[in-house]
Amino acid sequence: MKLCMIGTGYVGLVSGVCFSDLGNDVICVDKDINKINNLRNSVIPIYEPGLDELVKKNFKAGRLSFTSDLSKAVKSSNIIFICVGTPTKKNGNGADLSQIFSAAKEISKNINSYKIIINKSTVPVTTGDQLEKIILKKNNKKLFSIVSNPEFLREGEAIRDFIYPDRVVIGTSEKKPSKILKQLYSPLISKGAKFLNTSRRAAELIKYASNAFLATKITYINEIANMCEKLNVNVEDVSIGMGMDNRIGGRFLRAGPAYGGSCFPKDTKAILDTAYKFKINLSLIKSVIKSNENRSKLLTNRIFKLLNNNLKNKKICFLGVTFKANTDDMRDSSCVKIIPALSKKGAFIDYYDPTGEKKEFKNVKNVKFKNSIKSALMNSDLIIIHTEWNDFKSINFKKIMKKNNFKLFDMRNIYSLEKMKRDKINYFSIGR
Ligand code: UDX
Repeated sequence: MKLCMIGTGYVGLVSGVCFSDLGNDVICVDKDINKINNLRNSVIPIYEPGLDELVKKNFKAGRLSFTSDLSKAVKSSNIIFICVGTPTKKNGNGADLSQIFSAAKEISKNINSYKIIINKSTVPVTTGDQLEKIILKKNNKKLFSIVSNPEFLREGEAIRDFIYPDRVVIGTSEKKPSKILKQLYSPLISKGAKFLNTSRRAAELIKYASNAFLATKITYINEIANMCEKLNVNVEDVSIGMGMDNRIGGRFLRAGPAYGGSCFPKDTKAILDTAYKFKINLSLIKSVIKSNENRSKLLTNRIFKLLNNNLKNKKICFLGVTFKANTDDMRDSSCVKIIPALSKKGAFIDYYDPTGEKKEFKNVKNVKFKNSIKSALMNSDLIIIHTEWNDFKSINFKKIMKKNNFKLFDMRNIYSLEKMKRDKINYFSIGR
């Protein structure tokens, strides 16, 4: 099939490359000419394991191309995916849909035969209806279908999540696009992915409701972890015990820092905004957002306590600063709140991240990037493991550290309590 992906951000690029790997002809479009030139030379704008190999392979095979000419790309494709950003509005909680609408207007001018126009960006319920109105202004209804097809890709696992999704959701009440899209996704369906055809509005809501639910699940276990700390109970036992109940399920029950990233914080706010417009009170999601915001404060206070409320000239080391492992994404990482708060109290912070230095800390006083785990750890009073990269899972702290009286705060519960006890490390973790 001939596909066009508008927007080569996370969703557009990963989906486009994976669709081309399944044998489709895919044109990825972006306004940013620099990005397009880089992609043509296999320079990938995001960190995603395995993506560069797939880009090279499919570009070489001639199934994948990159352009900034939207008009030509739309004309030569049957299926058009809109994959542009829907960030939180500057003033308010709602999603900024300006990029979506501008893409729709551009598409609308270039419809030369029947096109399936799919919204893959995360958008508030009823956005599909608005897109339909925009396209109808210049085109006959028979020439297009507007479909919602939400993505559920996790950063760092995006290729695996694309190839082995739990489900493919297609939101349309028209038979023709549903049949064609089922065929497009048939290689994944034959490997076990469930196919669900719903109304367009339901598909739009499935995405927000799923992300808000996962954010709730994480927040829930984080609050239970707070309780475990007081009760001397291991939160991992609780997560495992809860997860054994199929009605609950064991995933997304790992306690840790506040959730972050490009989706959960943005989507929980956006679903609240939609609810507000329709006069619905989503009190549960409201309290999830509040609890998650409080979590960074709670963990910052815990760090203060670990250093006896005296951070002046204390050396703190952060291992990993992104919002989770296997990504270079700093969006809503809890570090962006925690590190400046520690610096304000007079601490010196060295950090190491496998994806390099971060602009977020360039102007924060006494915060330095180190290019190895060892140099970051040296002379620390407190070591904080903030993300769960494999690189951090078997560090010989005793060997590297010059002094013995350092503390280790493992925010991801990477190390076992028994091992830390054996190694006589002053060890602190979450909910244990
Ligand atoms: C998420 C959704 O999982 C994905 O389906 C959606 O399309 C995009 O948003 P992503 O933001 O890449 O994906 O990361 P995810 O792995 O879901 O983690 C989000 C946050 O939750 C991270 O900060 C992570 O550290 C945290 N998390 C996740 C936990 O604290 N505990 C868990 O058990 C799982």
